[in-house]
Amino acid sequence: MKLSRRRFLAFTGTTAAGSAALGGGLLLNPARAAEGNRQPGKVHLDYPTTTVSKAGDLKVGQPVAFTYPDDSSPCTLVKTGRETQGGIGPDGDIVAYSNLCTHMGCPVSYSAEERTFKCPCHFSVFDSELNGQMVSGQATENLPRILLSYRDSDDSIEAVGVEGLIYGRQANILPGA
Ligand code: FES
Repeated sequence: MKLSRRRFLAFTGTTAAGSAALGGGLLLNPARAAEGNRQPGKVHLDYPTTTVSKAGDLKVGQPVAFTYPDDSSPCTLVKTGRETQGGIGPDGDIVAYSNLCTHMGCPVSYSAEERTFKCPCHFSVFDSELNGQMVSGQATENLPRILLSYRDSDDSIEAVGVEGLIYGRQANILPGA
């Protein structure tokens, strides 16, 4: 089918308007675009902001468990102790990930010694300092990152979104959203 220039522009204009409407709500909240530890070119999903911890309460290498964006999604917050890719906070070393291995959903655990997340089921390893990159094992996807934001005024670390698909979900969308 051949499209005239006018019809092509009308079609793409409509599409762009639709994308902007979607982006303003769920996918690309411009107010948050500058926050957190987002990787360019990745799909990010904003969820309600939740305070996870105070930066000053975190100890290097001691993971903190929390759930996000809902109670059935266990996550881990880590202060790596050195400036880390995607890290936030006063030292740029605080990151967080989903706890569910991307292979079959077993809970991963943090190794402070190796600075990785390890899965006990089939031994996949994910790099906590390289955006959850899969290092070895059965998994083929990186560990989903929890997007964080740091509030200087009260030293709060907040979870604001997710980058990557949490294991077992068809989409990173909250029920009823
Ligand atoms: S469930 Fe983690 S490697 Fe299989």
